[in-house]
Amino acid sequence: MIKPHGSGRLKPLYVNDDKVRNELKKEAESLPAIVVGSAAAANAVMLGCGYFNPLTGYMNEADAVGTAEKMVTADGTFFPVPILNMVTSADISSISGAKRIALRDPNVAGNPVLAVQDVAALEELSAEKKEFITQKIFRTLDAEHPGVAAFNAPGNFLISGPIKVLNFSYFETDFPGTFRTAYQIREEISKAGWEKVVAFQTRNPMHRAHEELCKMAKEGVGADGILIHMLLGKLKKGDIPADVRDAAIRKMVELYFPPNTVLITGYGFDMLYAGPREAVLHAVFRQNCGCSHLIVGRDHAGVGSYYGPFDAQEIFEKEVPKDALEIEIFQADHTAWSKKLNKIVMMSRVENHSKDDFIFLSGTKVREMLSNGEALPPEFSRPEVAEILGQYYRS
Ligand code: ADX
Repeated sequence: MIKPHGSGRLKPLYVNDDKVRNELKKEAESLPAIVVGSAAAANAVMLGCGYFNPLTGYMNEADAVGTAEKMVTADGTFFPVPILNMVTSADISSISGAKRIALRDPNVAGNPVLAVQDVAALEELSAEKKEFITQKIFRTLDAEHPGVAAFNAPGNFLISGPIKVLNFSYFETDFPGTFRTAYQIREEISKAGWEKVVAFQTRNPMHRAHEELCKMAKEGVGADGILIHMLLGKLKKGDIPADVRDAAIRKMVELYFPPNTVLITGYGFDMLYAGPREAVLHAVFRQNCGCSHLIVGRDHAGVGSYYGPFDAQEIFEKEVPKDALEIEIFQADHTAWSKKLNKIVMMSRVENHSKDDFIFLSGTKVREMLSNGEALPPEFSRPEVAEILGQYYRS
């Protein structure tokens, strides 16, 4: 199996030993504590799972600027996005110089302790540096961009330092059948005996184009299996909730994929909508869960019109150093149903087609049809998938 990023063995930051974890939990109750932001909590979950291997905790300012600028930390580790615990000045006062603190979960009732952090440094990120990082990661400063808005939520202080993770927030309890750590996925891939594995990132229910993309990629690279890996964390308004997506994807796989060729899994992270940079982060964490390939198609991890449709493919060619990652990218062109060929095709690869020869539906149109109880065309969506989505919209 492919090696994790940056180390020979995966080192998840979750404390696996029950005794040690319980001791830490006890200690945490008497430590100065802060309720962290949702992004910092999601970072803790990802670190706990091993997805952000080889990081050992939250980055300091130098690493944040280095990853934003050149995708490397001060010690030379390739990493495409700053992984931060950003807090307010009030939070900083409340921990009053402590060397070890408890991080409480903003997303679970009662704010239980999610992780324990050793404080390596407290730094105030200047407005210029925050702007620099925002521009590099999101390629825009527009406050309407949901990722920019989340990144610029209150709090300019960075608490950096190593963490030990005590649980997986709400993901394990809310999505027991789907949430997996990178470590668990490696184990499942190994149990299946797969060597080559294609990962499919998604935050949407899967329609025919997505289904075919997975099948084309599996065949194209000669993979043994497909890892469908869906985001289970926070999304922008209007995106479909994880439980509905999960049900739709499970139905599609059950009916339309050969048995034992797909692992349906999810990870606990809030969507950044950072397009190209998020695609590179996606590649890092799919390598960490043992996948040899990641599908990157049209407008991967994008939102609105902030990114060109294939910017997320281009970044791997133009900005990611050749030896930075072992995982390979399966580049997918815009995929749609061809009325002439009666199948899903990559649009740029077929001849004698005009725009009208393909079936497209915008996200808005799909939502509109489903809300009105209209059936989606079977060329666009499997009827069983459309039915699950229809039920959601009608409720
Ligand atoms: S994402 O934000 O998680 O990337 P989404 O779930 O819509 O969004 O897409 C999952 C993957 O499928 C991404 O790699 C995306 O580029 C690709 N994709 C989605 N629709 C198409 C399409 N019609 N043609 C080509 N690639 C697509």
